[in-house]
Amino acid sequence: MKHYAIAIDGPAGAGKSTLAKKLAERLGALYVDTGAIYRTIGLYVKRKNVEPKDEQAVVSLLPQIEIGMTFGEDGLQHMLLNGEDVTTEIRLPEMSLYASDVSAHASVRTYLLEMQRKLARENCVIMDGRDIGTVVLPDAELKIFLTAAVEERARRRERELIRRGTPEPFEKVLAEMQQRDYNDSHRAAAPLRQAEDAVLVDTTELDFAQSEDALLRIVEERLGVKPCR
Ligand code: DC
Repeated sequence: MKHYAIAIDGPAGAGKSTLAKKLAERLGALYVDTGAIYRTIGLYVKRKNVEPKDEQAVVSLLPQIEIGMTFGEDGLQHMLLNGEDVTTEIRLPEMSLYASDVSAHASVRTYLLEMQRKLARENCVIMDGRDIGTVVLPDAELKIFLTAAVEERARRRERELIRRGTPEPFEKVLAEMQQRDYNDSHRAAAPLRQAEDAVLVDTTELDFAQSEDALLRIVEERLGVKPCR
């Protein structure tokens, strides 16, 4: 059987990664978090004290960056930056806007395209990001656009930051999320938008279990639960 791909796109904080991870476990597919790749580039740019909005400066750093991805037995995706495991560091709150800024450059996106497509050629994947259904995997067997009201997404992120021991005031979390929504959907290169053939899932009123059920139902209806080979 051919490898299948499920693309999950949507704004920050919609629950993409948690839900996609869970779904991948259920289906025996590989979960690929593409935001982590942009975060890894953002981290290198930050360490070099380069302005992330400066495309020329960012592009000049790309040849120095070797990105590695390893997937543990548990399906956990580890990110390697020139051999160093940066999985935890790229999750620091200040890395989100760096990732968003570097991801706006067309040259950065082109540079990362083949890496993402290769993963989908070699595995059954559930890939989450902003442009998976529209640009990276336009032939994905199933595309889901996962969203929720921005206030609800900010509340979820606020709770997550508390759990991680790095709390931030709600107003700050909300403002940053609004800025990221704006950046990610207004850039010229592969902006965040729902693919025409994507199924829209709004989780504003759904808790985690309900969201998971909604996604599983869609997968069963559209794809059947296929074993992955
Ligand atoms: O999913 P995330 O929050 O970890 O993503 C960080 C940033 O990376 C996000 O603000 C926009 C960018 N991104 C992107 O442009 N395209 C993707 N496929 C995934 C993430």
